[in-house]
Amino acid sequence: MVIKQEQFALDLDDDLLSIEKAQGARSPEPDTLENYAAGFPSHGIGRSRLVHADAFRWLAALPRHSLHAIVTDPPYGVKEYEADQLEKREAGVGGIWRIPPSFDGAKRAPLPRFTALNERERDHLSRYFVEWAEVVSRHALRPGGHVLIASNAFLSQLVFAALVEGGLEYRGEIIRLVQTLRGGDRPKGSEKEFPDVCSLPRGNYEPWGVFRAPLPAGMKVSECLLTFGTGGLRRKVDGSQFGDVIVSERTPRAERAIADHPSLKPQSLMRQLVYAALPLGEGVVADPFMGSGSTIAACEAVGYRGVGVERSADYYALARGAVPRLAAVKVRAPRELQLPLDGQDADS
Ligand SMILES: C[S@@+](CC[C@H](N)C(=O)[O-])C[C@H]1O[C@@H](n2cnc3c(N)ncnc32)[C@H](O)[C@@H]1O
Repeated sequence: MVIKQEQFALDLDDDLLSIEKAQGARSPEPDTLENYAAGFPSHGIGRSRLVHADAFRWLAALPRHSLHAIVTDPPYGVKEYEADQLEKREAGVGGIWRIPPSFDGAKRAPLPRFTALNERERDHLSRYFVEWAEVVSRHALRPGGHVLIASNAFLSQLVFAALVEGGLEYRGEIIRLVQTLRGGDRPKGSEKEFPDVCSLPRGNYEPWGVFRAPLPAGMKVSECLLTFGTGGLRRKVDGSQFGDVIVSERTPRAERAIADHPSLKPQSLMRQLVYAALPLGEGVVADPFMGSGSTIAACEAVGYRGVGVERSADYYALARGAVPRLAAVKVRAPRELQLPLDGQDADS
């Protein structure tokens, strides 16, 4: 199989992040992914397809082994994207969404508070991801296909264990270095009494789980690449290794202005992850929880075919408008990104 490197033009100044479709080098294929709608309402954008469906039902409805990779940011607490929780978020009262404390007078957007999950909810979360991994690993994903899945420092141990129980093979983690709003606070209600204490380390990373659908017994990675086009991860455009630490940034304002979704991920990150997900640069990358479609925009930007699925009608409509615009965004190079590790708030 030939790696279609000619699809990309490298801006040497900008390293991997400026992978962009070569102007006129290869005109976008017409959307070839109509079948991936699996009977649900859908919409084609470039070479990708957006589907309005429930992720579980969609994955089960796909023909077996349809997907080469999954890159996704699921509802971590499962319930934060339920209609009642979104209503509470809108009203600013109760529920899992809380306004983070303001250190500088700036108004912050609500964030889901995962420590609020009780034992029953943690159990529900675990079963949710076991079931999800089962339909992914036994049905929708090809043998050797990778799953790159966003998590957070509180829940990753629970979610990752559930994914293994559901049949996926754990292959490590990618650490996205980014300052989050998690932790760092003095003990609640006793801030003056314990000024030198923080109850939790201040969050400076986001873990992404790396999983793989098991290879058939005895099959080597090279055979899997030949047979299924999967099994490994793609090296960077310059041939260097894809590493498991990515210096990142909070989602830039310009991207948030395009897609007003509470969990929008930056294109500078998503393009690197998506690019790595297809070892031969061929196949289909899916995001079953696409939100506003940042994964699919990244697919479009690097010249891959993507399928994004969203259950909420509002976010599905948002993605339809946002994907082409996010795909056109120019991103910053890794060396331009700074990691604020000094306890100050990053410009979100
Ligand atoms: C964490 S957000 C992903 C946001 C995305 N990273 C972005 O950049 O916009 C998860 C999304 O999954 C959607 N969702 C939750 N449960 C779903 C399900 N069962 N099927 C499909 N989508 C679902 C939610 O509505 C939400 O938009």
